[in-house]
Amino acid sequence: MVVASAPGKCILFGEHAVVYGEPAVAVAIDQRVTISIKTHQKPGATWKLEGVPFIAEKHPHLEGLRKRLWHLSEQTPSLDIAINSKLPSAAGLGSSAALSVAFSAALRAARGRRVDEKGWCEGFSSELKTDPYNEPRRGHEAGFIRNGGRRLLGKDAIDEDECAILAHAIEAEVQKGRASPIDSSTVSHGGCTLLSDDFEKGLDWRYSRQLSTPEGKRNWEVHDVPVPQDDVWLVIGNTGKYSPTGKMVERVASMLAAEPERMNEIITIGSIARRGADALKKGNMEAVGICMTENHLLLRGLGVSSPELENLVKAAANYSLGVKLTGSGGGGCMIALTREPKQTAEAIELAGGRSIVTSLGTSGVRIDDDENVPFWTPGVADS
Ligand code: PMV
Repeated sequence: MVVASAPGKCILFGEHAVVYGEPAVAVAIDQRVTISIKTHQKPGATWKLEGVPFIAEKHPHLEGLRKRLWHLSEQTPSLDIAINSKLPSAAGLGSSAALSVAFSAALRAARGRRVDEKGWCEGFSSELKTDPYNEPRRGHEAGFIRNGGRRLLGKDAIDEDECAILAHAIEAEVQKGRASPIDSSTVSHGGCTLLSDDFEKGLDWRYSRQLSTPEGKRNWEVHDVPVPQDDVWLVIGNTGKYSPTGKMVERVASMLAAEPERMNEIITIGSIARRGADALKKGNMEAVGICMTENHLLLRGLGVSSPELENLVKAAANYSLGVKLTGSGGGGCMIALTREPKQTAEAIELAGGRSIVTSLGTSGVRIDDDENVPFWTPGVADS
């Protein structure tokens, strides 16, 4: 049995605009997705999810990772999968990224990773010549690099960068090629993440990510932002209205195709995100809140808010430093940055929303259990 978990995330600034290469900032939140996997029966048997047969088309995130890390041609054992999520799905809290990151960690822990004196013999990374963004070819299933090596197992085989790049690749597949790495990187590394079109002075740079989207090539520089130590909370208000990310991202893309001059609004969101990131770096939470509210007004102008979100934003505004919708919008969640979490949560509930209080920037992916690994010995001989 292997158990892995990853947190959800809230985007503080820059959703939608980040798909077009503009800056964005997100924090990991306390609520997590936990996934457990164990082997059942012989190779080739039907996989089970929550005790019933796994249907690949219904679970594209899990299927995309299975293809990359647990390929049938390697005589992989069948799995029983169980998911325990404290995150509502299609609500803007990164539940699919958290699921993908946790599942990629679980599969990697269960299969292990071959390494030798030169480094990884298998795995996915932007630095090595392994491509998680394309359907894997036979023999390349685990990001094949070279033969041999000894095997790292369980927790020791996990790499946050690998979990993040695989989750990004899967999100891009599911969102028809339009996905930024903001969700995948934030939930994998935890803490607070800034994506930018440039290197940001004074911040720790993690890596670059590239993606060819239907609108052109994108490049994001991914940075780590120190989380301010301040008595400040995020209160999440869930409208309860289901709103899948892919649909909202496509809606913005169609609007920009029809009215290209509205790219100015996307660029303005980018400037607000940069100011917000600066305020966060300086620990000026009052300024962070102001930027959040400004960002919300632009998102509303883009047409990705909804009456339900506006209702909760209005209710929380009285007790908050800043309020905005978070994630792709259309429904899902809003967030309030506040020093009065109890009053803010009550105001959201009174207005008909469900509230969740969270701290900012909790820990990222982790393996909670790794008994009896590896689950099988992959085809390439260990030396
Ligand atoms: O709704 P969520 O949590 O999936 O947020 C997605 C953020 C977007 O900017 C709308 C899309 C993306 O890939 O960055």
